[in-house]
Amino acid sequence: MSSPLRIGLAGLGTVGVAAIRLLDRQAEVLANRTGRKIIVAGVAARDAGKERGVDLSRFKWFADPVELAKSPEIDLFVELIGGAGGAALDSVEAALRAGKSCVTANKALLAAHGMRLAGLAEQKGVALAFEASVAGGIPIVKTLREGLAGNSIERVYGILNGTCNYILSRMETEQLSFAQCLGEAQKLGYAEADPAFDIGGFDTAHKLAILTSLAFGTVIDANAIAIEGIESISLADIEAAAELGYRIKLLGVARRTPDGIEQRVHPTMVPKSSAIAQVMGVTNAVTIDADAVHELTLVGPGAGGAATASAVVADIADIARGVRSPPFGLPVAALALAEHAPMQLHRGGYYIRLSVSDRPGAAAAIATRLAERDISLESIVQRRRPGAAAEPPGAVPVVLITYATYERTIREALDAVVTDGFLAAKPQFIRIERE
Ligand code: NAP
Ligand code: HSE
Repeated sequence: MSSPLRIGLAGLGTVGVAAIRLLDRQAEVLANRTGRKIIVAGVAARDAGKERGVDLSRFKWFADPVELAKSPEIDLFVELIGGAGGAALDSVEAALRAGKSCVTANKALLAAHGMRLAGLAEQKGVALAFEASVAGGIPIVKTLREGLAGNSIERVYGILNGTCNYILSRMETEQLSFAQCLGEAQKLGYAEADPAFDIGGFDTAHKLAILTSLAFGTVIDANAIAIEGIESISLADIEAAAELGYRIKLLGVARRTPDGIEQRVHPTMVPKSSAIAQVMGVTNAVTIDADAVHELTLVGPGAGGAATASAVVADIADIARGVRSPPFGLPVAALALAEHAPMQLHRGGYYIRLSVSDRPGAAAAIATRLAERDISLESIVQRRRPGAAAEPPGAVPVVLITYATYERTIREALDAVVTDGFLAAKPQFIRIERE
């Protein structure tokens, strides 16, 4: 057996503690599979006195993760702190500069600095591995980078945030409020330290940025992603969607189009009968459309300590075996600068919910504004559902489903409807994605 692989692990929260537990539990299996013992040589977090439910007295404590990252007592640095900058960035950078391979679950860090860190790893001849950064326990990074190396990819999309899918699922099945569901997701260890990253769509965007680079061989450009979160989704939308045969999911979508690569994150109506609509709770699903495999979907736990630790430990095992792939599938210099398809050119169906003043001419005015722009309607429903959230006084809910049209066309039509003065509240619109 080769010499042991000595790990320095920074961040002892949900994922860090779960990783230590998994390394303990699978120590013998991992040694057999990799031909080396994997030992934790040092750990770092903020509070040395915190009770964490695992015995840390056997590890050397480092008050500063950067010192741990540079320590000659470790061979591999595992960053499980979180955040795009600060201690996470400083320690990963220090480890790579010191010629040590790194494993991280930190998508915010990779979306912001992934190219530079991958370049540094390449220069130093070490690994930068981040399986846990996208879709928790689903091995999507390895699937895209290695498993599908012989494919040309057209689209990668899916449910990439466990917290949001958990919230939307619980709101629908248990009729709970948004705040209650978010509180549960936080208690279960799914949410980011600042849950605004989850519900605002930013966490999904960070993951989509990584998937886009892996799928299309492009330089990460997180700023090119159109982002909308789930904050505006109400029980009224979830109920209306259900009535019309849809379910609402927060999707991240990256797609080749004639105008460039479209990258978008937003609440999406998916047909209830579709495979992605069946994905409930903290589960994530990623679908890849590629020329040789056609369609491939991976489904599994998207967040939580144990599932995420599974991906962290898989990266550690690879490094123990001496596996080192280019982090984003190609040498950094070979990654292309992508053309970005603007969101205004996105084409698809739309769900529109309007709170319409109950006055003569309102429906005709709305129909005119849509017809002027050649927007055809698949369905229109105007009625109060029993028990539905109250509309503003003197208003009735109108729900429309359009056939495919352009984003800019729908926005122009809604601006005109607002200007006409028949609405009692801001219009809600949600894009529809059909498989
Ligand atoms: P967490 O529970 O908030 O834990 C963060 C840990 O980092 C804590 O132990 C904290 O120390 C430590 N820390 C924070 N700032 C530090 C600093 N300046 N110096 C040293 N240590 C510091 O977070 P988590 O949920 O485990 O997530 C960790 C990473 O995994 C994040 O990048 C997250 O996005 C990613 N991730 C999480 C999940 C999930 O389901 N939770 C899934 C996939 C990926 P103290 O405990 O002493 O405060
Ligand atoms: N907060 C993230 C989520 C953790 O809910 O999906 C997994 O990346």
